[in-house]
Amino acid sequence: MIAIDGPSGSGKGTVSRQVAEALGFQLLDSGALYRLVGLAGLRAGLEPADEAGHAAIAATMDVRFGTAADGGEQVWLAGEEVTEAIRTELAGNLASKVASVAAVRTALLERQRRFATPPGLVADGRDMGTVIFPAARLKVFLTASPEERALRRHKQLKDKGLNVSLAGLSREIAERDLRDSTRAVSPLVAAADAITLDSTRLTPAAVVARVLVLARERLAGS
Ligand code: C5P
Repeated sequence: MIAIDGPSGSGKGTVSRQVAEALGFQLLDSGALYRLVGLAGLRAGLEPADEAGHAAIAATMDVRFGTAADGGEQVWLAGEEVTEAIRTELAGNLASKVASVAAVRTALLERQRRFATPPGLVADGRDMGTVIFPAARLKVFLTASPEERALRRHKQLKDKGLNVSLAGLSREIAERDLRDSTRAVSPLVAAADAITLDSTRLTPAAVVARVLVLARERLAGS
């Protein structure tokens, strides 16, 4: 078990995917599950404050993950491909709101643990090392400066042809960080036994290489 936690834009998604691929491990993108709950709630016409309604969706939604030809993630909700739909800022913000609901987190707990199958799992999220997989062999807390994270997200959206202002994006990221790290249930915090990596001045390849060194050290020690 390798847990990779950290704030939005720290590079967790890319790094987790590449580490999983290099080791031949399964990948859990837990953020996608919260995005799916937000999106499914919106589509069902739920009020954002409807905690029981969102928890019911979290418990019953029909989700499937796959890998595209280019190695990227594919996601289906009730048979409909929603790979792009869950990546919008709207879905990210809805995710961050439903993620503060304790009943939603409880409903997703077992679903996340079921991803832990042989030969191993790389779990990407906010509470992988603290709550979902506290016994993970390796816990990495990936960070980057808020400015760098906003720039990365801006570039990602621009590459997709979406035009959003950097200032607006920085504000949204700051709001999401604050909400994620101050919520009562499973706040974004590094596990006591996590290794913190600051990716501000590192390429994704350098971060992946570092995590693989740590992973091989830990696996060798088993
Ligand atoms: O990682 P990603 O940006 O896709 O996550 C979207 C939101 O889902 C986060 O802002 C956070 O509020 C929530 N989340 C969470 N716990 C996780 C993963 C994501 O609360 N393990």
